[in-house]
Amino acid sequence: MNSRFLFFSAGALLSVCLTATVVTAQSAAVLTVDVKAPKAAVSPMLYGLMTEEINYSYDGGLYAELVRNRTFRSDWTGILDWYLIEKGTSSAKVTVDPSTGPSAALNHSARLEVAKADAAGPAGLLNEGYWGIAVRPNTRYTGSFYAKTGSEGALPVRVALVADQSGKVLASASVSVSGTGWKQYRFELHSGMIAASAENHLEMTIDRPATLWLQLVSLFPPTYHNRPNGNRIDIMEKLAAMRPTFLRFPGGNYVEGNRLDSRFDWKKTIGPMVDRPTHPSPWGYQSTDGMGLLEFLEWCEDLKVQPVLAVFAGYTLNGQVVKPGPDLEPYVQEALDEIEYATGAADTRWGAARARDGHPAPFQVPYVEVGNEDSFDRARTYDGRFAQFYRAIKARYPKIQVIATMPVQGVTPDVLDDHYYKREQGMFEESRHYDNAARNGPKIFVGEWATREGTPTPNFGAALGDAAFMTGLERNSDLVVMAAYAPLFVNVNPGGMQWSSDLIGYDALTSYGSPSYYAQVMFASCLGDHTVNSSLTGAGERFFYSATASANKVCLKLVNAASVEQPLTITLPGLGASAHAVRVDTLRANTTWATNTIRDPKRIVPVKSTLTVSGGRVALVAPAYSIQVLEVDMK
Ligand code: AHR
Repeated sequence: MNSRFLFFSAGALLSVCLTATVVTAQSAAVLTVDVKAPKAAVSPMLYGLMTEEINYSYDGGLYAELVRNRTFRSDWTGILDWYLIEKGTSSAKVTVDPSTGPSAALNHSARLEVAKADAAGPAGLLNEGYWGIAVRPNTRYTGSFYAKTGSEGALPVRVALVADQSGKVLASASVSVSGTGWKQYRFELHSGMIAASAENHLEMTIDRPATLWLQLVSLFPPTYHNRPNGNRIDIMEKLAAMRPTFLRFPGGNYVEGNRLDSRFDWKKTIGPMVDRPTHPSPWGYQSTDGMGLLEFLEWCEDLKVQPVLAVFAGYTLNGQVVKPGPDLEPYVQEALDEIEYATGAADTRWGAARARDGHPAPFQVPYVEVGNEDSFDRARTYDGRFAQFYRAIKARYPKIQVIATMPVQGVTPDVLDDHYYKREQGMFEESRHYDNAARNGPKIFVGEWATREGTPTPNFGAALGDAAFMTGLERNSDLVVMAAYAPLFVNVNPGGMQWSSDLIGYDALTSYGSPSYYAQVMFASCLGDHTVNSSLTGAGERFFYSATASANKVCLKLVNAASVEQPLTITLPGLGASAHAVRVDTLRANTTWATNTIRDPKRIVPVKSTLTVSGGRVALVAPAYSIQVLEVDMK
């Protein structure tokens, strides 16, 4: 009979004997935390974020653009996400015109030919947005488009946000387009007293016969910190609540691309939108590159986090490899230029480009990662590729910590990036992965990890796996200096997800945190700067913990992944006889399959309570299926 069966048997017996309010099935455990016995350092950068364009993370996600396919890409069905409007007796057609566009990057356009239209029966184009367009009450929307017409006279173009079901116009503006040359036009839309909804679309119509060419049609709601071309407020607020210390970008697979010509070619993601050609992401859809290199850096600035810049390293997902040596040199130079764009003074070539793009002040980039998951390179060229990048980066930027994506020979990386994607039980095991790991090699960055149970976002079982794993990260944070869950985002609409179990879900209107998200928020809310000597006796085998402390506080993480309660006495020798307040956050669920959803986003959220340590001890019962963070005030 295994010990788990014994616990359950004991639980069954106890539940018969005890009243319904006191059902405990684990034996009482004792956690001893010697707050005066520091053990190992905890990295101040332990918790951060990892991001890439996957699951409509930026387009249709964080990047607040409301117009889908603003650059009029098409396939055999027609122009994607745009539809012809012919009201009343109007008649029109729309085609892609490959012969004209406002820039070399966007050298095609939508050509709308209206043969017949009037005020009662206008014609034009409809954009469906990213699974709808969120319109909120009393809100200002800022828009723009490039256009030209077939004649010199003024042509009024009406732009409107329209409710899908009722046809009600929620906000509209008239823009006077004139001339046969490309120009950019700007407009504003203001909504009134309406109910917030995402069941809306955009209409652009004209009320007379004419030919109108359009390109780069854009519409933004208010953004986080009011940045033009900025990010969704609700999602940024969720990220800020995680108290991250860094952002790893732009991938992940996204930095590699499927092929050399679809890698994250950063120079094509900077400057005015009209100069960004867009590119196919490896996750099956086109990226607008509205979230370009500067926007990533500004995202870091807005969250006050350090960039962990991943550079393309000469290996693509379909196995194209650039041989180390002269062939790789242009890509090494591309990375050096990229670092200069981010960190160079405004009198350097690429620092000047950044200043022209609107950000004269250099950014700090303490970490550069060379590639992504290069253990998949079957040609086994990473030793040479990494060494070439490492030497070039160190020669020019000696303070930058260079991260390798797998163990390498030749040079010693500053940091190694390890990835873990497992089921709950796998993550319980991985929680001990670094307990006995050697401390004489590079530091570790767990650059991607997640317990993969639940879709589109993780369920409570996954959150338990995550929390158990994080106790191991904290215990070993002298070695594991940084860690980031992945993927971060998912658009929960049908077709929005390419990878399941993603931390934060959203549609066009709202977003929500998964139980795993709240586990992250809770763990980052209290983290000491060192671990302390501690021991646990008598707990069930699915009980995990960590103990860290700094001058003013002790942070205890308790994870009871069992289906029964865990009574626990915590003793804190060294705390003295006086009373100490304890802030407690508890996240719990009735089953491992319980979860939050876009329609029911707050089923599982942290609940606050307090305890008191007195005489150096406190007793509690860790609920079944629970994650708890205890912050003991040491003052
Ligand atoms: O996080 C999803 C993918 O998992 C990343 O793009 C890749 O690095 C890993 O294989």
